[in-house]
Amino acid sequence: MRFAKLALAGALVFSAAAATAQTVKIGFITSYSGLNGNLGPYMERAVRLYLKQHEKELGGVKVELLTRDDTGPNPDKARQLAQELVVRDKVNLLAGVIFTPNAMAMAPIATEAKVPFVIMNAGTAVITTRSPYMVRTSFTLWQSSYPLGEWAAKKFKTAYSLVSDFGPGHDSEEAFTKAFEAGGGKVVAKVRVPLQNPDWAAYMQRVKDAKPDCLMVFIPAGKTATAVMKNFSDLGLDKAGIKLIGPGDITTDEELPNMGDVALGVLTVHHYSAAATRPANKEFVAAWKKEYGQNETPNFVAVGAYDGAAIIVEAIKQQKGKLNPEKTMEIFKQWKNPNSPRGPIAIDPETRDIIQPEYLREVKKVGGQLANVEVETLGTAVKDPWKELQKKK
Ligand code: PHB
Repeated sequence: MRFAKLALAGALVFSAAAATAQTVKIGFITSYSGLNGNLGPYMERAVRLYLKQHEKELGGVKVELLTRDDTGPNPDKARQLAQELVVRDKVNLLAGVIFTPNAMAMAPIATEAKVPFVIMNAGTAVITTRSPYMVRTSFTLWQSSYPLGEWAAKKFKTAYSLVSDFGPGHDSEEAFTKAFEAGGGKVVAKVRVPLQNPDWAAYMQRVKDAKPDCLMVFIPAGKTATAVMKNFSDLGLDKAGIKLIGPGDITTDEELPNMGDVALGVLTVHHYSAAATRPANKEFVAAWKKEYGQNETPNFVAVGAYDGAAIIVEAIKQQKGKLNPEKTMEIFKQWKNPNSPRGPIAIDPETRDIIQPEYLREVKKVGGQLANVEVETLGTAVKDPWKELQKKK
């Protein structure tokens, strides 16, 4: 009897130790349904691909992804899911998130529970100031729209700004306007459209009537990008001589085949294109096709998640699977990769945002298919310009 009790206690101790030392739980919240429900799987596939490629480096530590659907821009749902993952499932990390409002809603949970949170998409500049436990491996809209404005000021005199009415849209409008007008251009109108189901034909008619040299659009990637493109062409804005420009969200790689030739010649600024010819990207795209099918292509959401998985793997390796939140954040802040598919990247230890290149891209046909061809590098190590400007104030 006594012996049995001892043996049982021993077994419990042993299994508890094994469980904590060998499994890292990641609460992975993204959008599998609702607006942009097609983007969640890009995020998850990218994380799984990186983990599979680097499994041997983990020294036997298991990584468990607890995937949850936030159903699109739905902060209440995201907050509730994060709460459950932290309290009930006791995750070591939070990760994922397409939409800004969701990331904002999760910030207090990361802070209170001291759970490091790797943001793999949501791009409003202010997000990372909301919790010291956040790090972002994706982008900010300022990073793309500010250099876009600088470049556009050299080409065009007048611009019309049309953006989705939520955080990243406001950032895109503000960043573009600031840079475009500092460069001598004039933004003739700033219009914000509802995030879901705006009447694109009506908005495009107003743009046509205003006759700007260029139309700058931000929408949250996905199917909305194709709706913009279609209405731009149906209302004849291209024929009226108006140039469509924007951050890369408007020509997101996975939607190009649905857009058709109307997308040809559209110029965007972004940190990632699946068509980029640098070796690290060719390897990434090839690995993606091998894993998920020859007709599949990664996009900017995928690369944000792929590098997000890389930063997590680094934290696991350095701590041998026993994650301490403060130590994890220190590792995140020091992380860099000279060879990401998007080029050299690093985390800015001051802001916990990513430093990365920004490319001017033009939609062209490559091998008979539409592609975002990088035509110029506008910056090699771009920090979030919003935070840089805040520092100067
Ligand atoms: C965001 O909500 O921050 C967001 C969503 C989709 C994008 C970019 C940013 O394409």
